[in-house]
Amino acid sequence: MSGHSNYEPKTGFERWLDTRLPIVRLAYDSLVDFPTPKNLNYWWTFGGILAVCLGIQIVTGIVLAMHYVPHVDYAFNSVERIMRDVNYGWLVRYMHSNGASMFFVAVYIHMFRGLYYGSYKAPREVLWILGCVIYLLMMATAFMGYVLPWGQMSFHGAVVITNLFGALPVVGPSITTWLWGGFAVDDPTLNRFFSLHYLLPFMIAGVVILHIWALHVPGNNNPTGVNVKSKEDTVPFHPYYTVKDGFAISVFLLMFATFVFFLPNALGDAVNYVPANPLVTPAHIVPEWYFLPFYAILRAVPDKLTGVLMMFGAIAMLFILPWLDTSKVRSMRYRPTAKLYFGIFVLACLILGYCGGRLPDDHVIPGLSTFQLLDADLNSMVWLSRIAAAYYFSYFLIVLPILGLTETPLPQPESISAPVLSHPANAPAGAAASPEKRG
Ligand code: HEM
Repeated sequence: MSGHSNYEPKTGFERWLDTRLPIVRLAYDSLVDFPTPKNLNYWWTFGGILAVCLGIQIVTGIVLAMHYVPHVDYAFNSVERIMRDVNYGWLVRYMHSNGASMFFVAVYIHMFRGLYYGSYKAPREVLWILGCVIYLLMMATAFMGYVLPWGQMSFHGAVVITNLFGALPVVGPSITTWLWGGFAVDDPTLNRFFSLHYLLPFMIAGVVILHIWALHVPGNNNPTGVNVKSKEDTVPFHPYYTVKDGFAISVFLLMFATFVFFLPNALGDAVNYVPANPLVTPAHIVPEWYFLPFYAILRAVPDKLTGVLMMFGAIAMLFILPWLDTSKVRSMRYRPTAKLYFGIFVLACLILGYCGGRLPDDHVIPGLSTFQLLDADLNSMVWLSRIAAAYYFSYFLIVLPILGLTETPLPQPESISAPVLSHPANAPAGAAASPEKRG
């Protein structure tokens, strides 16, 4: 895919620049002429949507940083000042806080798309792993960003999460002290979190460039999972996918705007509008929605260290996924059994998210305690989390490795074009238009 270029400089200046810094050629080859499979569906528009999200977070974040004060005595009030006194500060802040949620909505769709269509399989393992690195950086950035307004949830969330590192044997306590910059979550912690929260998005941008580079070497996967065989299977990226991505980005921005203008606090926690107070612990410490499945895994395990290891293990599964899935068939379109297990996997993730947002001893079926066994109430969120977490790990460690060797996939099409051309809607003009044939 990479190598041959059809770019021809048109003006004298372009020719001059092209022999010195062929940046226009790079943009032309990657965004205009790039041969893209002609059957990509709307799940493939989320990469572009994510790039827009990253841009919005960086721009709004830079403006917020002009007014924010990273000091425990001023942070909360500086955010309130942004909301009330800074011109359009409310808009910039709501775009940034809801933007983080939108970013995670898009990244989860993007990742599940990859899981379903087998985009992590050879030759795209490095592309996938770079995606996992981006995801880790996104989580670190979002966690530290949430601490900055220095509300009750910011503070106590930071205490809970930083304390997790204390569970590590021997080095744990030193790591926690090192993270805090002292002996408690305090001003040095807030300062370093601000510094890193500003830095990490630029590191994400750097890894995104590598991610797209690693995409452009093997080229896109596609809904059939079948390799591109000829030029007939592709169309140039522009105008076909610039238009399709542009449309999807517009729809996504409409949904984003609905949150910013009509539901700006729907995804946040009211408790974070109370200034941080180390002496008053909120009744229910919950992270933002996008961390809830991991929080549920953490709480599902009684032992703290094992819980922490399981939580990080859940992310580690993604990194080694290309080597866990033994199936030669990429797309689950042709793997009916895998499709079923994948459906349950999505459900397990949703259940984990739901449990993470509830108190561990809340009842799954309200008021019912008939499943009582010794001291354990089997009707609790913690048990539901355990079942879902067990499935989460089994999916990666048992289902995908074994299924790939034992299942019988459906026959795959000869080429990307074959199923498109054999679709009734694409029959020769006369045949498709004929009412008798349609009837
Ligand atoms: C800031 C975050 C991210 C950005 C801006 C981004 C951007 C993109 C873009 C533009 C594409 C090509 C268009 C598309 O397939 O949608 C792409 C493809 C891909 N991305 Fe990402 N990505 C991000 C995060 C991730 C993450 C977290 C993962 C997985 C853990 C991931 C895995 C992939 C894979 C496997 C592909 C190849 C898709 C295929 O052709 O089937 N990406 N990404």
